[in-house]
Amino acid sequence: MKFPKRVDPRQVDVVKLVSQAVTEVAPHDKQAFIIDRLLNGRDLATLKALAPVCRKRPGMAYDPETLAARARRRIEQAFTAAHWPTQPGPGGPVVLEIGCGRAENAKYVMACGGRRYIGIDPDTTLALSHPGLEADAEILAGTAENLPVPTDSIDLVISFNVLEHVPDPRAGLQEIVRVLRPGGNFFTVFGPPFNAPAGPHLTRFIDLPYMHHLFPESVVSQFTGRTDPYVTVNKRPLSFYRQTFFAEDAFHTTMYREHVTGTGFWLLKSRGELGVNLALDELGVSAITALVNKPA
Ligand SMILES: C[S@@+](CC[C@H](N)C(=O)[O-])C[C@H]1O[C@@H](n2cnc3c(N)ncnc32)[C@H](O)[C@@H]1O
Repeated sequence: MKFPKRVDPRQVDVVKLVSQAVTEVAPHDKQAFIIDRLLNGRDLATLKALAPVCRKRPGMAYDPETLAARARRRIEQAFTAAHWPTQPGPGGPVVLEIGCGRAENAKYVMACGGRRYIGIDPDTTLALSHPGLEADAEILAGTAENLPVPTDSIDLVISFNVLEHVPDPRAGLQEIVRVLRPGGNFFTVFGPPFNAPAGPHLTRFIDLPYMHHLFPESVVSQFTGRTDPYVTVNKRPLSFYRQTFFAEDAFHTTMYREHVTGTGFWLLKSRGELGVNLALDELGVSAITALVNKPA
């Protein structure tokens, strides 16, 4: 099997797909050591002993070229999914980005023919201090659940790596639908959902997949030095996002894909012994891409 796979769970049995994928994952050279340690204890000493083996990942360091390439790719993907041309021309979309971070996407929204870019984030300092910020970009403080934008005013809402941080994603989706003009679209890529290998977003501390299912929260708390070690994420499972996107009362989910990346699947081979008993789709889906349309 080649990873990553992007599948619609309404058409593909994700549990079966993950189950097949797990059996096909090649052995990992440190796997036996890690599993042996885990079978012998789930205390702070074990986690500390695993830290040098499961080395932390520094995250995406600020590298202007990588960020620019990522921004261009994302914006072209969003425009294409929502049926907007990716070349400048008359009558391009008014674009609202939720959780814009540094707002490096603003430049590419305008380069693709966007008429206006509005970036919203609870913390606007990164965007406003970004030296490459697009001159015409409008940056506003706000949250997905409470958008400082008029009803029916936006052609295209975009959001990348944000929904898993939003405390109330359902309220956020309702707000997004409110601000979209009839016929407008919301394109998002987000995740991992909480049950995924890196669900708690703690790979900056240790790159041990499923750490939150393997160790008590109190141990992870001591290891990270955080009172609530999972404070930056909303802790929603995959099932919550499926229910939310498939509810389709005020909107239509016109595209929905779950990413089965294979990350950490080597550990799932021993999940029975390790006592990780969640469903394989909850454990195996690392991200979601969706396109939501507000009916005209
Ligand atoms: C992982 S960063 C992603 C930033 C950027 N979209 C990117 O891909 O680089 C998550 C962003 O979501 C923002 N955020 C957190 N809670 C939010 C909320 N309730 N509504 C909107 N944005 C939120 C954070 O401030 C942060 O900028």
